[in-house]
Amino acid sequence: MDRTVEIVELESAHCDALLRFFGSLPEGDLTFIEEAVTDPDVVRSWASGASGGRRFVALDGSPDAPEIAGYVAVRPLPGWSSHVGEVRLVVSPASRGSGLGRQLARQALVTAVGDGLTKLVVEVVAEQGAALALFTALGFTGEALLRDHIRDREGNLRDLMVLAHHVDETWAGMATVGLDEALGQDLS
Ligand SMILES: CC(C)(COP(=O)(O)OP(=O)(O)OC[C@H]1O[C@@H](n2cnc3c(N)ncnc32)[C@H](O)[C@@H]1OP(=O)(O)O)[C@@H](O)C(=O)NCCC(=O)NCCS
Repeated sequence: MDRTVEIVELESAHCDALLRFFGSLPEGDLTFIEEAVTDPDVVRSWASGASGGRRFVALDGSPDAPEIAGYVAVRPLPGWSSHVGEVRLVVSPASRGSGLGRQLARQALVTAVGDGLTKLVVEVVAEQGAALALFTALGFTGEALLRDHIRDREGNLRDLMVLAHHVDETWAGMATVGLDEALGQDLS
């Protein structure tokens, strides 16, 4: 299938498609986003920049009426952790396994480094093999394991992992994953 997916910063014009995207996700996936993603006012406040953080969407389909295939957000934590960005990433089930999650995560990382954040964290359910593989390949490592921290829809308890990427420590290592190119400078 010939598909072109473009990753762009979220704008007001994408809000309806983004609401459709969130509305179509299985409930389990929505828990990764944490914010009230099905509330139109919340989503519009993101596009207006009022709620802080940087958000990107993957546009798929016709340029005139694209649908959204994936979403990533990096939000600085409040107060004394304002140097830390929290990443939230989700790809539509139909678009998984073709590298889109990796592209969106890279976009989040490049943006965070450019914005001066020095640490990124992401919460991953321990059994989420794809998310673990993706963030580990981008230089994230396990920093905390919270046992029985999540209760899924069936009431089963699951572990939550907090993965972290320390930008200063991994600066040289980032060159190995090609982020220097994306940042337009030599990091080695
Ligand atoms: C995690 C998620 C974003 C990955 O999206 P994706 O577009 O399928 O990811 P990619 O195609 O870029 O694959 C990323 C890596 O995961 C691997 N992978 C894909 N599916 C996998 C699976 N079921 N088990 C193990 N690894 C898997 C791929 O091989 C790839 O690694 P590689 O490049 O080293 O081969 C997607 O599964 C998702 O939205 N999950 C629900 C939300 C979530 O868990 N978010 C993360 C925490 S915020």
